[in-house]
Parts: sequence; structure tokens; C-alpha cells
Amino acid sequence: MRARGAARDWRLGRLDWRFDTAIPDRPARPDRPELLPPNRMPKRGKGGSIANRIALIHALAHIEFVAIDLAFDLVGRFGAHFPRSFTDEWMRVGAEEAMHFVLLERRLRGLGSFYGALPAHDGLWEAAAETAHDPLARLAIVPMVLEARGLDITPQTIERFEAVGDDVSARILRRILQDEVRHVAAGVRWFGHGCAIRGDSPANAWHAQVNAHFRGVLKPPFNDSARAAAGLTKEFYEVVALGHAHLPQKFPSSRAGQKPATASST
Ligand SMILES: [Fe+2]
Ligand SMILES: [Fe+2]
Repeated sequence: MRARGAARDWRLGRLDWRFDTAIPDRPARPDRPELLPPNRMPKRGKGGSIANRIALIHALAHIEFVAIDLAFDLVGRFGAHFPRSFTDEWMRVGAEEAMHFVLLERRLRGLGSFYGALPAHDGLWEAAAETAHDPLARLAIVPMVLEARGLDITPQTIERFEAVGDDVSARILRRILQDEVRHVAAGVRWFGHGCAIRGDSPANAWHAQVNAHFRGVLKPPFNDSARAAAGLTKEFYEVVALGHAHLPQKFPSSRAGQKPATASST
């Protein structure tokens, strides 16, 4: 009965979900890697040396590690208020994120390193905290902004590995890219489901959620074909990208704590 009551409030957008769940605000973390604020992270080199590749794969492994938590947090925090297929789908996504982490962790070991050897970016959980009150905010930001950005960036990263003959790493990222299209698609589909309940247009509702809860900058180039394959059509992101065009910061650096180019960019 509690779920039915909460769902009624959710449709009205009133319930603060943090008080309706036993899910912790922050998941447990291993002692390593050391988590640093984004502006204290050491700069990664661009070349194809082993040290630079290790740093890049370590950063990607950390993103996958956090993605595991994000998928299961979505289920634990919001799953009771959706059809059972919501939980089934996001549990599968969480299992795939775990598999991605294992592939990258194994690759780190193959290159003589391991997950935890380097510091990692602690900004990734910000999006979860920012959207803990509303499943549509969470779906709008995590799969439809952050994971969609992975679709844009991963092909270039694959090319970087191929250019230095690291086909093992390139193959892992191709596999991850395939799965991530499905993750974004799940986000788009469940966001649409919630919008239908609230009687909102998905594109308009997404624009409102991004304006309210995303502190980064969304800029081209976009992987339009992969986004379209996930159902994330240009009507969602083109307007937002146009509005962010004057902002100087590169995605996904947080706009928080940075000097804005204009007053409207904060
Ligand atoms: Fe992943
Ligand atoms: Fe994913």
C-alpha cells in the first residue's frame, strides 16, 4: 500500500524520496582509489604511453564502478513505484556495468596496474545526490545526459587505442559502447513512461530537468547515430546544446565553483 501512496505523490511530484527509502545517500567505497574533487585530479597525458593508457583505463574503470552503484541505487530508491520490468531491466544494467568494470580492471592488471593504484574523480556521485528526490530527474541526468555522453566520447577513445596498436583495450571499449546504447535506451524509455504518467512531453520535461539538475555543459560533437539508436533524438539535446554554446567549460566539468563566462552560465 505504501508504494501506491508514494506513486500518487510521485505523479504530483511532491514526495521527497530520500525519506521513503533505506538506500544510503552514498554507497560504501573501498579504501582505494583515493577520491579527489575534480579540480584536484592530476591531468592525464594525451599520448599513447603505457602510463597514459593506464590512467585513461583507470578513469574509465572508476566510471563503471560508480555506474554499478547508480543502477542499483535507481532500483532500490525508485523500483517499488514502477512496474516489475523496471527493476528487471536496471538490475541487468547493473550487472553489465559490473562486467564492464571487470573487463577494465583485468586490462589494468594486464598493463601492470590495478584499480585503486591512482586517485579517482569524486564528482560522479554528485548527479545521484542531486536527483535523489525524483526518478524522472535521475533518468534525465544519469542515463540521458551522462551515459549518452559516453556514446559521444567512446568512439574517439577507441581510435586513440587503435592508433597505438592497443587492440585489446579498443575491443573492450567497443563491447562497452554496444551495451551503453541499450542503457541510454532504457533511460529514454522509462523517462517516457514517467512523462506519460505525469502528462508531460518527454522532450520538454527533459529540458526542464537538465536546466534544474545538470551542472555541466552539454556541447557537440554528438554521436547522433548512437543517440538515435537509443531513442535519444535531436529534439532532446539540440536545444540544450544551443543554450550551452556560449559556455567555456568542457563537459563534464562541473560549472559549480568555476568562474562563469557570463552571468547566465551559472
Ligand atoms: Fe558501463
Ligand atoms: Fe551504462
